[in-house]
Amino acid sequence: MHFPGAFFLALLPSLALAHPHPDSALEKRSQTLIPTSCFDSTSALTTFFEYHYPWGQTHNGAAIMWSGHSQILSPGTLTLWSTYTGSSPYSYDSGTVYAKQQFTVAQGSGLTFSADFIAPVAKGTWPAFWLTGANSWPPEVDIAEWKGNGMINFNTFNTSSAVQVTQIPYNNPGSFHTIRAVLEDENGSDVSIKFYMDGQQTAHQYAHGLVGQPLWLIIDLQMEGSSGSPGPKSKTNYEIKNLQVTQP
Ligand SMILES: *[C@@H]1O[C@H](CO)[C@@H](O)[C@H](O)[C@H]1NC(C)=O
Ligand SMILES: *[C@@H]1O[C@H](CO)[C@@H](O)[C@H](O)[C@H]1NC(C)=O
Repeated sequence: MHFPGAFFLALLPSLALAHPHPDSALEKRSQTLIPTSCFDSTSALTTFFEYHYPWGQTHNGAAIMWSGHSQILSPGTLTLWSTYTGSSPYSYDSGTVYAKQQFTVAQGSGLTFSADFIAPVAKGTWPAFWLTGANSWPPEVDIAEWKGNGMINFNTFNTSSAVQVTQIPYNNPGSFHTIRAVLEDENGSDVSIKFYMDGQQTAHQYAHGLVGQPLWLIIDLQMEGSSGSPGPKSKTNYEIKNLQVTQP
């Protein structure tokens, strides 16, 4: 496009009049830290996520994690799946990803995490969507955790023993359910966390001293461990779509 320069010069004063106060600089703008397009393709996935845990391929259960078990099988949906290998000490191959960026509830601010899940609830399957301290443990916030008993947990750890746990029935596990956690600075030190499932608030917990602490976001399909054993010998899928992280 080639417009004469005079056209733009003529336009500028009217634009300035239309916006006499450049209030965009003062306005609080919501910021998208991870967009819902993050599972549209493998390249979108690897733009925002790394495979495995921040510390490696294993954690506190019977699975060893492989990038091949964390895939975009249909655009928009991340599928993590586990298979039984019977090996020792890790008797399952499974998948985990974590966000490349760390998340921090800043003074006077907050974070909202949301996504839709199809999560297995069979004995020995332990999918989760959770935050863990990047510099120490705890803090930990389990935005959603399924421990192989037909229930869903929402948890906040102040210390390893001071833990708030809310557990409610998880119906229709074969359908997508929307999980959301809204974290807000409560008083410059503690963080208020409201948990929601399918638009209904399920829990309201407080994390001691969480303001300013960097967190990893992890999506994993761990096996056995806290979800009991033996786990399934057949393939297990855990699906996630519409994941979004925003800051108010
Ligand atoms: C924040 O509130 C908690 C109680 O919920 C209190 O223990 C803590 O001292 C408060 N912190 C500040 C900075 O006011
Ligand atoms: C964790 O800390 C918060 C904020 O100080 C407090 O409200 C909550 O009762 C504590 N939870 C437990 C289980 O100690």
